[in-house]
Amino acid sequence: MNQMNCDISAVLFDEYQIQTRIRELGLEISNSYKNSTPVMIGILKGGFIFLADLVRSITIPVEVDFLAISSYGTKTSSSGVVKIRKDIDIDITGRDVIVVEDIVDTGLSLAYIKDYIWQHKPSSLKTCVLLDKPDAHKTDVTFDYIGYSIKNEFVVGYGLDFAEKYRNLPFIGILKEELYKC
Ligand code: PRP
Ligand code: MN
Ligand code: MG
Repeated sequence: MNQMNCDISAVLFDEYQIQTRIRELGLEISNSYKNSTPVMIGILKGGFIFLADLVRSITIPVEVDFLAISSYGTKTSSSGVVKIRKDIDIDITGRDVIVVEDIVDTGLSLAYIKDYIWQHKPSSLKTCVLLDKPDAHKTDVTFDYIGYSIKNEFVVGYGLDFAEKYRNLPFIGILKEELYKC
């Protein structure tokens, strides 16, 4: 038992479950973009592990880029303030774009990202989200590919952090409440 595992109250999705779902998403995306080379934009930091696994389950050529934004800082609830910390490098005008995000909580980050990407005039824009918390939405943002819908609990691991920690857990788990509630 490693040190981080003691901070987890339950495992929501283990490595095997995550990889199985990602293979399904990869197949779906590969079938939908047969005559295209989409640009897959991973949203840093949380999306880095999902993007890395997802692109390896896709069998058509893709290009990879990153957009770094932050809305949470070290808190567990969304501030609603989104900042761009690293911009995309590829010219996505006229391209098919797929945004890859780890989680939709309030939806404010993804809504901002979609607006921002549309400003670059891609020919299409789809979004692939590993986790969705429908009960936490504060905006009616939509997405196209989704891994799992989950309850409104604070989850960490597989890229998702609390105060920058736990991103390297290979599974997705629920963080013990006493660690973030005072
Ligand atoms: C988290 C998460 C999503 C966003 C979801 O990122 O990775 O990007 O919040 O929350 P929302 O739907 O309420 O906007 P965070 O801002 O913590 O940055 P990080 O990815 O660097 O951890
Ligand atoms: Mn994020
Ligand atoms: Mg975060």
